[in-house]
Amino acid sequence: MPTLDMGSLSRAAERTGQRPYIVAIGGTTRPNSSTEKALKVALSAAQTIGAETCLLTGSDLELPMYAPERPERVPAALRLVDEVRRADGIILASPGYHGSVSGLVKNAIDYVEDLSKDALPYFAGRPVGIIATGAGWQGAVQTLIALRGIVHALRGWPTPLGIAINTAELVFDMEGRCISAKIGSQLEVLAREVVTFAHKERSLASASDEYPRK
Ligand SMILES: Cc1cc2nc3c(=O)[nH]c(=O)nc-3n(C[C@H](O)[C@H](O)[C@H](O)COP(=O)(O)O)c2cc1C
Repeated sequence: MPTLDMGSLSRAAERTGQRPYIVAIGGTTRPNSSTEKALKVALSAAQTIGAETCLLTGSDLELPMYAPERPERVPAALRLVDEVRRADGIILASPGYHGSVSGLVKNAIDYVEDLSKDALPYFAGRPVGIIATGAGWQGAVQTLIALRGIVHALRGWPTPLGIAINTAELVFDMEGRCISAKIGSQLEVLAREVVTFAHKERSLASASDEYPRK
């Protein structure tokens, strides 16, 4: 993997005076799951290159089943929708449950439907990094493909690199540090892809006013 030029991206953030806002969504109900650890490592890399970040995980995602015909929303659901609306870039991470995206993560993503009438609907105009974990390669890779399909359905721009993590191997330590050089480097590259694209979209959008953001 190529090394990151963290310096030049940070300088780009300073030049535009606007730090891209990157929202990470995913994990499991269990605090400190490997899926959550992967998101935290990616967000930390995004911060290093000048992004402002927000993590929605665990209890933030324990929402009632999404029901379009019932417009009442719990505060956590309103927050999720608002954070996606504000986001310049998104990172999604799901464990592979029975061969696909977990119910927790998919239900949270279903709430993005509430952005369908926005000027910038769903994930439109935003880079979306995707990460899938599994207790084996088959589940992780299958879930990664499912996530990529979801991003396309929501009109987002999946980053070139998507990451499949086999948690049967030793990847993170108890403190959440990534102890796999390969996965660590991939998480940095994914963060850079999201932040770089977000920067470009932000400058284009502010030049044209085509995509108003909050
Ligand atoms: C209900 C359930 C279903 C699962 N199904 C699969 C599966 O189909 N394939 C797989 O590789 N792992 C499966 N797993 C394992 C998780 O994907 C694995 O634990 C994943 O790495 C998440 O780790 P984490 O909980 O530390 O984030 C399943 C786990 C649970 C709880």
